[in-house]
Amino acid sequence: MKIGNLNIPGRVFCAPMAGISTRPYRIFARRFGAAVVYTEMISSHGLAYNDKKTKDLVNFGDDERPIGVQLFGADPEIMHRAARIVSERKPDIIDLNFGCPVKKVVRKNGGAAVLKDLGLTRELVSATVAAGDVPVTVKLRSGWDETSKIFAEAGTACEEAGASAITLHARTRAGQFAGRACWEDIKHLKETVSIPVIGNGDIRSGEDAARMMDMTGCDAVMIGRAAMGNPWIFREVNAYLGTGVNPPPPSLDDKIAVMMEHARMLLDAFGETRAMFKMRHHVAWYAKGWPGVANVRRRAFAMTTIAELETLLDDYRRGRIDLSDNHVNTVDE
Ligand SMILES: Cc1cc2nc3c(=O)[nH]c(=O)nc-3n(C[C@H](O)[C@H](O)[C@H](O)COP(=O)(O)O)c2cc1C
Repeated sequence: MKIGNLNIPGRVFCAPMAGISTRPYRIFARRFGAAVVYTEMISSHGLAYNDKKTKDLVNFGDDERPIGVQLFGADPEIMHRAARIVSERKPDIIDLNFGCPVKKVVRKNGGAAVLKDLGLTRELVSATVAAGDVPVTVKLRSGWDETSKIFAEAGTACEEAGASAITLHARTRAGQFAGRACWEDIKHLKETVSIPVIGNGDIRSGEDAARMMDMTGCDAVMIGRAAMGNPWIFREVNAYLGTGVNPPPPSLDDKIAVMMEHARMLLDAFGETRAMFKMRHHVAWYAKGWPGVANVRRRAFAMTTIAELETLLDDYRRGRIDLSDNHVNTVDE
């Protein structure tokens, strides 16, 4: 498939996730077969007003390509300025976030709130397209709530304004992450627009991806939560889509090697204290499903140095951790 003039090397995309889609996460996603990765959503306002921390979020390496930089905001003029700044870094895609349900964002009419005003939706896309020659894509939710599912009209508006592809997370803003994503919406969108449609919502396996593609006719699928701590899912889904067979899962040693590499990359980027703070969550995700996971998490959330992580993983490998305690409560369960 193509997005604008860009050839996309596969059909399984890695979703943008705020606080998660940092460089190490994206590197592993690409290494294990994600066709495209994205930065987390970045404030157009912060970029246009030269905020240093916001600007740092745009940093990426050539080893991550193809990469989309995702922007959010509700002011076309500011979006234009932000897109010009981003274009100078030559990402492969600029993606606009019209799906974020978080109060802090929708209160200022950004994210999913853009879907309440199709005129604004159109203007934001046009302003971004006019900023340079990087293909512009959009990521939508199905609508604001069940009574205002306007993904089809929004999709048409985006296409007319020059968008090169649309990702649909098939839930409304009101639906947040509850219930099942409504894949029929993806099918309907695919029948409505002629640019590529990327289907998103609740893919956890190769079987899910194949089912979504069969049911909706979407051009590609995007995986979010199921890739947290599991970059191997891209390899698995690619293999399943290609052959109908799931490859063997990664071994414990493979996982531990990736965890340590992930921690080292965070260390280089953020210094030990911040890196290990960030790494705590990743360890919890990587260890999901391990016997004794509760004890692994408990120790991970107390660690402050990379040496402690190494010892923790070594203890786990050698069976020096009580494997009977598996009780955990997490947001993604
Ligand atoms: C913690 C978290 C952060 C997210 N941040 C973003 C974001 O920055 N931009 C965006 O477009 N979507 C964001 N999303 C939504 C995901 O990209 C994706 O649309 C959603 O999780 C549904 O896909 P899934 O069922 O495969 O997880 C986020 C989701 C989660 C769970």
